[in-house]
Amino acid sequence: MVRKFDVSTSWLQTKELCRYYRRGPHEVRAVDRVNLYLERGEFLGIVGASGSGKSTMLNLMAGLDTPTSGRIEIDGTALSSLTRRELAAYRARRVGMVFQSFNLLAHQTALKNVELALYFNDTPARARRIRATEILERLGLGDRLDHVPADLSGGEQQRVAIARALVKGPEVLFADEPTGNLDQVNTEQIAELLAGLNRQGLTVVVATHDLDMARRYAHRTVRMDYGKLVATDSGRTDGEPGQ
Ligand SMILES: Nc1ncnc2c1ncn2[C@@H]1O[C@H](COP(=O)(O)OP(=O)(O)O)[C@@H](O)[C@H]1O
Ligand SMILES: [Mg+2]
Repeated sequence: MVRKFDVSTSWLQTKELCRYYRRGPHEVRAVDRVNLYLERGEFLGIVGASGSGKSTMLNLMAGLDTPTSGRIEIDGTALSSLTRRELAAYRARRVGMVFQSFNLLAHQTALKNVELALYFNDTPARARRIRATEILERLGLGDRLDHVPADLSGGEQQRVAIARALVKGPEVLFADEPTGNLDQVNTEQIAELLAGLNRQGLTVVVATHDLDMARRYAHRTVRMDYGKLVATDSGRTDGEPGQ
């Protein structure tokens, strides 16, 4: 097998990754033979129209969904070879997820929303509170700790959701349309925040239909179309057929 570039250091690699859904007599190829790599420290944009498979792709990479066929390797280890417990640890510790709709607990404060992310991580209560407070302060929400989501702006809610993802100290942040519910000003702020976290060393993957945002913030942007990876805007292409 000849490789065009050295991908031995990739944090993640997918190989002929497929996720098909059956819908009545039809098969929906949400992700169709995708070969993608993710380098440590990069900011990757995944763009494509609604329904092109971006969310499915993120959920697969985050270990929240299981491929129909093909594989995902993290540091060269197939996710499918992990035990249930190891997969749970991967999801809980190594990756963070952020969604368009924030998915915060409506009746809990910002602080509690972030603390709860550590609840399943064997972190003592006092340490949970300290770490949650620290990360919220770092994201500029030090004076919003006791606010419930309804008393926060959309941009602030998304920052709480980002804090919740970061408090576990993940290696990679997967963000699914993180600015989809935000106005232009908040979109810029959240994109800047993600770029800043990336500059500090966090690997970031953003799925978005906002090509303009992806172009401005991502190091590399790949495009999905009907489940296929169809293009990349850097000089590198992934996994040509026959590789
Ligand atoms: N749970 C599901 N059951 C059936 N079809 C699904 C499911 N999730 C996604 N799909 C289909 O897979 C395709 C890709 O969806 P998705 O990954 O959500 O795309 P995107 O995030 O780019 O909008 C769409 O045709 C969608 O309808
Ligand atoms: Mg989506």
